[in-house]
Amino acid sequence: MRLVIKGPNVLRGKVRVSGAKNAVLPILCACLLCDGESVISGVPQLGDVAVMSSVLRHLKVFCRREGEALKVDTNALQLEEIPEELTRRMRASCLVMGPLLARFGRVKIAAPGGCNIGARPIDLHLKGLKAMGAEINERAGFIIAEARRLRGAEIHLDLPSVGATENLMMTAVLAEGTTIIGNAAKEPEIVDLQNFLNRAGARVRGAGTSTIRVEGVKRPLVAPRGHQVIPDRIEAGTHLIAAALTRGEVEVENVIPEHLEPLLAKLREAGVQAEVEEDRIWIRPGDSLRAVDLRTMPYPGFPTDLQAPMCSLLALAEGISVVTENIFENRFRHIPELQRMGADIRIEGRTLIIRGVPQLVGARVEAHDLRAGAALVLAGLAAENTTIVERIGHIDRGYENLEEKYRKLGANIERVG
Ligand code: EPZ
Repeated sequence: MRLVIKGPNVLRGKVRVSGAKNAVLPILCACLLCDGESVISGVPQLGDVAVMSSVLRHLKVFCRREGEALKVDTNALQLEEIPEELTRRMRASCLVMGPLLARFGRVKIAAPGGCNIGARPIDLHLKGLKAMGAEINERAGFIIAEARRLRGAEIHLDLPSVGATENLMMTAVLAEGTTIIGNAAKEPEIVDLQNFLNRAGARVRGAGTSTIRVEGVKRPLVAPRGHQVIPDRIEAGTHLIAAALTRGEVEVENVIPEHLEPLLAKLREAGVQAEVEEDRIWIRPGDSLRAVDLRTMPYPGFPTDLQAPMCSLLALAEGISVVTENIFENRFRHIPELQRMGADIRIEGRTLIIRGVPQLVGARVEAHDLRAGAALVLAGLAAENTTIVERIGHIDRGYENLEEKYRKLGANIERVG
């Protein structure tokens, strides 16, 4: 399966953002804490959502799609071992650990392997579970966590890990007493998870700040009906960058502008015109695209998930940009592919030196991970001649109908094979 893009394109028109993948995935795991049928609306049709649904199905929890809503019924929930083929396919599978441990007092899960963007251990998740009274054993590639009773604890994360914050929040919901998570991640998706949990009867406070406080409750949670997932700020940012690098005029709707502040600041610094209203952002070209320096940081810093798409824009900006990737140790898989398209980029450790070129030229390139794949689509939109992006299954993990959305904005792009 590949995408064939004939460039250059100038994107024009309106595009609507889907629900946030990185909010849906933890919320699907939080359903395991709830009795009954949860109804979650605004759930995108994504590869990763399908994988998480198969993890839940493995636990006899059945997901039923009704339009944009997903119904998740836990009435037949039973504890099963989570096998390697599931945890290898998607690291976020490890987010079932907290809920299963909280409900059953035991969980056995194949250790999530590293992935294309780095080692990605879960040591902070496990340290937090131990602090709440769990006994952790790791053998033969499996992690076994057991806790006769979970008790609230004071936990301080070595680094603001999104997954560890989410896993520990969900575990603490049914622990006895109060849990404080210090140095918690502040991503908007964590606020969405808190809102879902509280609608189900949990008592979570502080999501979006560095300190989250959870008062354990005794009874199982009651499945919420009608939780609306927040819009996907990373998909929205990808479209804003696509509009800017094709020097188009695009209205991106269904956004929460505050979630995009770090990107908007950089786009404006690069000379892009961006106008913001309550749930939409307009992008128009400035007189030129200027080089900017950026470093990825935990929210509300510049998001690591937009580093690759931003490299495609900076490859075409006038001047030299310095990009530092502080979150993952191997998130430059898009660089050799962009170099094949004529980008002038040098890698020095965790830093990129990008010297803008007047034009990229289409080539056959390969998506190595989700956001690297998106970066190559964006580069192909702006490049002369034909770009073929291979292995687009990576892109389908996190973007719903990407080529359809860009075709509607006037791009010459189609899915082949
Ligand atoms: C979440 O991954 C997102 N995934 C990622 O989005 C995102 O890039 C990342 O947060 C950072 O914002 C989902 O939400 C499903 P982390 P996660 O734990 O939770 C290290 C995308 O493209 N670390 O904040 O795995 C880890 O190795 C994906 O949509 C530990 O050392 O990220 C990494 O270097 C990619 N020990 C850094 O922290 C731990 O126990 C950030 O990881 C946990 C993490």
